Amino acid sequence: MRQVSIVFGRGRSGQGVAEPANGMASPVSQIWPIGGGKGGTGKSFFTGSLGFLLARQGYRTLLIDVDLGAANLHTIVGIPNPPMSIADFINRRVGTLEETVVPTALPNLFLISGAMNNLDMANLGHEQKMKVLRGVARLSYDYILLDLGAGTAFNTIDFFLISQTGVFITTPEPTSIENIYRLIRSVYFRKIHHVLKTYDFKALADEAERRNPKAIVSNPDLLLRVMGELDPEKGSLLQQELGSLHFRLVLNQLRKQDNHSIGALICKIISKHLALRMEHIGNVGFDDRVHSAICKRTPFIELYPYTQTALDLRECCRSLLPANKEAERRLHGGAD
Ligand SMILES: Nc1ncnc2c1ncn2[C@@H]1O[C@H](COP(=O)(O)OP(=O)(O)O)[C@@H](O)[C@H]1O
Ligand SMILES: [Mg+2]
Repeated sequence: MRQVSIVFGRGRSGQGVAEPANGMASPVSQIWPIGGGKGGTGKSFFTGSLGFLLARQGYRTLLIDVDLGAANLHTIVGIPNPPMSIADFINRRVGTLEETVVPTALPNLFLISGAMNNLDMANLGHEQKMKVLRGVARLSYDYILLDLGAGTAFNTIDFFLISQTGVFITTPEPTSIENIYRLIRSVYFRKIHHVLKTYDFKALADEAERRNPKAIVSNPDLLLRVMGELDPEKGSLLQQELGSLHFRLVLNQLRKQDNHSIGALICKIISKHLALRMEHIGNVGFDDRVHSAICKRTPFIELYPYTQTALDLRECCRSLLPANKEAERRLHGGAD
């Protein structure tokens, strides 16, 4: 079984190329956490749509609903009453996370439902969270998409740090943008915190904080500079770890009158302030028919494949896949 150790600060690459199932062994699963600062931005809709597109291209794709407490991915993928959920693993009714996987009607698309009673992400204890993180790392699929809850709770953020890549979803509304910025910053600083802990950087962090009390929470530049001065080797290790992060931003529910370059602008601001690789991979247009597709429990892309929104979703999927000719060929030559 392929296995990835959960050591914060040493995330998995997220850069390798997954090959479609087709009987061929695929390399280590690509894990894409998908999150947003606010509820209702379209995380679950985007996760379901992306899963659908990847599965249609032959990739064994697993969707995991980690929005515990507000789980609804099962409804989006057309499984109103999942027979198993992540709760069965957390509560030790089954021994492995794999046993909670439920197939969907679409070949290659699988789900771990987050539907559970009396437990939300905020209530998940440290051991339970680590158990789920380790469980996810042991799964073996081409792509694993994590539908994360809104907000900046540490439990949510730690699911982001399971991978070096992740997708942030926001709408163009200022409140949503404000929250996504807050979330990205929280993920970034949590990463620094994990790296400092993991590599025993505590002394260096203290010195950075002594020079500027806000170094760790608000001044990554200063922190990196102090680190570099005090211990060039460890300083460059931290820089390396932060440099390995590559996040993506999707603007969802864009209407005609909205500023279509706002995504690129947000990425520019984040890259400048946090020295973080942040890439705007696309805008997904607002379409009233998303609502009716969800009500029909049928993938929007299947019901309305020729709409602008479906086109936008395909484009986002294309941008997320590793840039190689083979992936390009499958996407355009694919069944969808
Ligand atoms: N591109 C879109 N166009 C129109 N409505 C959308 C779009 N994306 C999401 N929605 C609507 O927004 C609502 C929230 O979406 P959902 O994916 O459940 O958000 P989240 O998981 O972020 O809370 C849904 O009712 C869905 O119909
Ligand atoms: Mg959701």
